[in-house]
Amino acid sequence: MPVRSIAAEELGPALAGGEAGAQIRDWCAALEAGSVLYFPQTPIPIPEGDLKTLLSGSQTDSRLHKNIAYKPNRDELTGVDAKTLPAEAVRELHAIMRRYSASVEEFLSRFLAPYRKRWVLDYASYRPIEEQGRDLSVRRRNDLLHTDAFPTRPTRGWRILRFFHNIHPTRTRDWVTGEPFAKVVGHFTPSAIPAPQADGALARAGKQAAQAVGLGKLIPQWKRTPYDEFMMRLHNTMKEDAAFQSSCVREEVQFAPGSSWMVYTETVPHAVLAGQYALEQTFLVDPAAMIEPGSAPIRVLEVMTGTKLA
Ligand code: SIN
Ligand code: FE
Repeated sequence: MPVRSIAAEELGPALAGGEAGAQIRDWCAALEAGSVLYFPQTPIPIPEGDLKTLLSGSQTDSRLHKNIAYKPNRDELTGVDAKTLPAEAVRELHAIMRRYSASVEEFLSRFLAPYRKRWVLDYASYRPIEEQGRDLSVRRRNDLLHTDAFPTRPTRGWRILRFFHNIHPTRTRDWVTGEPFAKVVGHFTPSAIPAPQADGALARAGKQAAQAVGLGKLIPQWKRTPYDEFMMRLHNTMKEDAAFQSSCVREEVQFAPGSSWMVYTETVPHAVLAGQYALEQTFLVDPAAMIEPGSAPIRVLEVMTGTKLA
């Protein structure tokens, strides 16, 4: 999967070009086609004090869960044990994540100008745990090549865009990426493609899951669709297929300390092998906002199956 590197000197002039900027459209198109857009020097520097707090050992101790999430729509921080972590420390982490989330949205409002903010600002996360050798169940392991799908947050065809920042002061964050989406899908289909008819039980389960995480009120229409079912199954199947994991084509990518990158993780197969301390912000992007609408996985799958999947 090609990595498109964007130097700090290129960024200023491109952003000054505004929405019509040909360079920006070119980067967006590359992103949609499966490139990782890589900023060797992050365009969103973290305030010095915030960085110090995020890197201090106190944030990795057992009082913190392994997955610390910030939910911008409710201004809520989850994954911290408020019973044992001092209230002041929780407040500080909450404020840092709020600032981080807002700064990424501000930057992408400019960088992804062609999309005209046709997205939902999803969760941000803080990843303080060493990725190498984590003891997780197969489906939760991120060191196995996979495409992303959320068990509790169906996207109904909206794309999953993730913006990362390696905040480790000296170590790289080590990924591998796989072959293009259509090729990977071809490897697993047709068995992985669900029956196209609407499934009442499936829709109900999706609604319950959405309500359980509080999204029900906000976006009640976001039920699980055949598309979501397929994407979830693809995620699980890729991780569980040992032969695929050992034989598939992969490319190593190392993200430098202080760098950022973004990628459509629902289409670009990826895995993280090593690294510690990262920040991440997720966006759900309207597939109709794409410069090349045919690049959205829902369109790819609909063409492949000849049916509507959402
Ligand atoms: C993942 O999305 O699989 C994990 C990526 C990372 O934490 O670097
Ligand atoms: Fe992932």
